[in-house]
Amino acid sequence: MTFLSSILLLEMLILGSGKMRVDNALINEIRNKVDIVEVISSYIPLTMRGKNYFGVCPFHDDHAPSMSVSKEKQIYTCFSCGATGNVFKFLQDFEHISFLDAVKKCADMSGIALDLKPTETQVSSKYKTLYDIYDVSLKFYQNNINSSIGKKAKEYLYNRNLTDKEIKEFAIGLSLNEYDMLVKLLQQKKYSDKDILKSGLANANDDGLYDIYRERIMFPLHDPSGRVIGYNGRAYQGDMTNKYVNSKETDIFKKRDYLYNYHRAKEEARNKKEVIIMEGPMDVIRAYTIGVTNVVATLGTAFGSSQSNLIRRLSTNVILCFDGDAAGLKATKLAIGELEKVGINPKIVRLPGGNDPDEFILKNGRDAFLSELKKAIDVMEFKASLLKEEMNLSTNDGMAKYINMMIKEINAIDDDILKEVTISRLVKETGVDKEVILKSIKTSEIPIMIKPKTIPRKNRRYNESVLGLLYFMLHDEEAIKEYSKSAIYIPDKEYRLLAFEIEAFYNKYGYIDTADLLTEIHDDEEVVKTIGLIMNMDSSSFNKEALTDYLNNIREYQKQEEINKYQERLKMTNTYEQKLELGNKIIADKIRSEKND
Ligand code: UTP
Ligand code: MN
Repeated sequence: MTFLSSILLLEMLILGSGKMRVDNALINEIRNKVDIVEVISSYIPLTMRGKNYFGVCPFHDDHAPSMSVSKEKQIYTCFSCGATGNVFKFLQDFEHISFLDAVKKCADMSGIALDLKPTETQVSSKYKTLYDIYDVSLKFYQNNINSSIGKKAKEYLYNRNLTDKEIKEFAIGLSLNEYDMLVKLLQQKKYSDKDILKSGLANANDDGLYDIYRERIMFPLHDPSGRVIGYNGRAYQGDMTNKYVNSKETDIFKKRDYLYNYHRAKEEARNKKEVIIMEGPMDVIRAYTIGVTNVVATLGTAFGSSQSNLIRRLSTNVILCFDGDAAGLKATKLAIGELEKVGINPKIVRLPGGNDPDEFILKNGRDAFLSELKKAIDVMEFKASLLKEEMNLSTNDGMAKYINMMIKEINAIDDDILKEVTISRLVKETGVDKEVILKSIKTSEIPIMIKPKTIPRKNRRYNESVLGLLYFMLHDEEAIKEYSKSAIYIPDKEYRLLAFEIEAFYNKYGYIDTADLLTEIHDDEEVVKTIGLIMNMDSSSFNKEALTDYLNNIREYQKQEEINKYQERLKMTNTYEQKLELGNKIIADKIRSEKND
């Protein structure tokens, strides 16, 4: 590879902005140019047996050749520990490097940059014009802050203890106290008024278009792949009534899907296996100044389901570190609810004195902040502390109320360990006999909250069917189409998620390939693990009859599970009315399912 082309490739990979961006299609092109068997055998000895190659798995303690490498599928799978992935994943885990570094390594091995012309790497997106407009605006705002006109804004930032290093790293810019400077610039560059309006950077009146952002410090907002899609503009002088102005929602910016700094934090969060969530850009940037870089922010908006899914892709170890004031408390409660919905039990930091992370770090320094992070409490401890604030525990009445409320909370916990820890804590703190608490936990009357644990989840026929279905879906598009048509609901979350990802991949690219799918979902550990499970099965090649059987079995099982669930609840209900209501539901369900057959 020539020097120039390697620089070119590196830029495309690293800059991640505007025209020089790589998407997964390009990454998989790189993947296709290297052979996984060659790469892995340069690290560990492989022997060929039948169609596959075998070696000692480096990801768990072993002496037997438990890892198979498939030349055909370009993936590896360990029969013993379940490790699985494509060539990038192997390099990532073996060399402890980031995903992007693994991609770079493969590009270097293959010399692929020689084949790449910049035109091929342009973002082919229907929103390309919008991204381009944001590119122009970013350069404009950055120029402003770095010129003499930006002196006051820079002074403001210096006064807030930021340096040129952070200003550059976070691409902080400045909009001017002018009527339509940005609009004019965009028009000069031949963008249509329609597109300029669509970008959300301008409004229109009878005289034409004018800039929305004026005299504000501009914090650019990036999407997960690093493209600028909006701004958080902060007033720094003059009228401060609207301290921050967030970008309008556009085709490329949706507030509820957005997390500030996600694109920078994702690698570090994955490596550290932990994500910290804060409220604003200033908090995130301040955290960076003390070396805490696995951090994102909500921009003060309510936390929603797309954000929790974004977070889940990085790690399920989450620390909520919102402002220490009342608004931060409210935001914390909301975020806990949303995160719990995707199976995350976050830890919580409540900063003292109503401080936000920015203020706290400035006042108390790095070590004090790290120690606050270490002291993060679990959700139940957090809920307990809120209840305690509400109730007077020095009275018998208050204490009894507190214990009863806690028992309700305990009953709603999914996580067995958290449940056990919370019970012990409650026993210790209240001095009430553990048996008494346990007894009320078993009998407390909230049947809806009780998880139907006694249902035999491991029905063999169902298990074989769902694994078989997923195996087929990974290898044959017809299976994907049949699955989509069937509108089946897979009861197990991990299998359902994989089916969802396969379907999404197929809809996006029009084909299915396990190694390419692994690129697409490389940061979703749970789904990767499930793929490992599927790949370790002894499976026959695709046939329509077996597929139909699988789908029927899953449907059957799911119906039965629904009915079991109701019957289980019926056992737990106490009143006659509740029994009657549930009984009716069971009958209605049975009738419905018979009709469907
Ligand atoms: P805060 O009011 O806590 O601001 O709002 P802050 O982060 O401490 O900002 P500084 O330190 O005064 O500069 C938290 C976040 O909510 C969003 C911003 O992203 C802000 O960083 N916000 C706040 C808005 O979008 N609009 C507002 O009017 C206020
Ligand atoms: Mn602040």
